[in-house]
Amino acid sequence: MVRIRPFMKGDEEAYVRVHNEGYSTEAWYGSLEKVLKFENFSELSYDSTFLAEVNGKIVGLIDVKVREKIGDIENLVVLPKHREKGVGKALLEKAIEFLRDRVEKIRVETPIQSKNAIRFYLKNGFKHVANAYLVESQNKSKLRPYLGHNFYFVRNHIYWIPDNKQMELLKKLKADFSLIGEFKVMVKTI
Ligand SMILES: CC(C)(COP(=O)(O)OP(=O)(O)OC[C@H]1O[C@@H](n2cnc3c(N)ncnc32)[C@H](O)[C@@H]1OP(=O)(O)O)[C@@H](O)C(=O)NCCC(=O)NCCS
Repeated sequence: MVRIRPFMKGDEEAYVRVHNEGYSTEAWYGSLEKVLKFENFSELSYDSTFLAEVNGKIVGLIDVKVREKIGDIENLVVLPKHREKGVGKALLEKAIEFLRDRVEKIRVETPIQSKNAIRFYLKNGFKHVANAYLVESQNKSKLRPYLGHNFYFVRNHIYWIPDNKQMELLKKLKADFSLIGEFKVMVKTI
């Protein structure tokens, strides 16, 4: 029987273990998203995290963050041995319960390589609304006017997730960037 509960102090080690072991099945993990280190745990900032427990062992997690009236699923991962038993769905349902009074829509950006996850979200009522791209550029000043909210800096580099339209614009501008990854943006009304 799966039990879903909020993250509590003391769960940090289990969170990092499930995060890394769970994502290790995905080809993009370690490149598109850096492997999570225990010492970097305190840098994570979500509005809520729920954990899935089976026989007292943590086997899955989901992180949510509210941005501009949309609830973003930031992470959803289940240990490989515990998949296809409804754990992912139970985590998603708990996140929706938390978000229901706060937002009308939830969103997820899933790497295009993660076929299982894409099928999971479509089966759970998400609609594919756009593609997004993770791009990296060293030229901050040229890109700055075109950046939406969805970007972050790592030293001199800008990592940015533009949508289809912004990506077209970048190509027209012949902006100096490299493509790191591609995502399906999926949305569900709750
Ligand atoms: C995506 C992910 C979280 C789904 O977790 P899960 O626990 O396997 O999800 P569920 O068990 O609820 O559903 C998965 C499938 O199992 C099926 N299933 C659920 N309970 C079942 C049962 N008792 N018996 C057989 N099948 C079952 C579901 O119908 C579903 O089928 P589908 O793949 O055809 O849609 C998991 O595959 C994962 O961790 N992937 C790697 C991380 C990742 O890519 N995350 C998304 C990026 S944000």
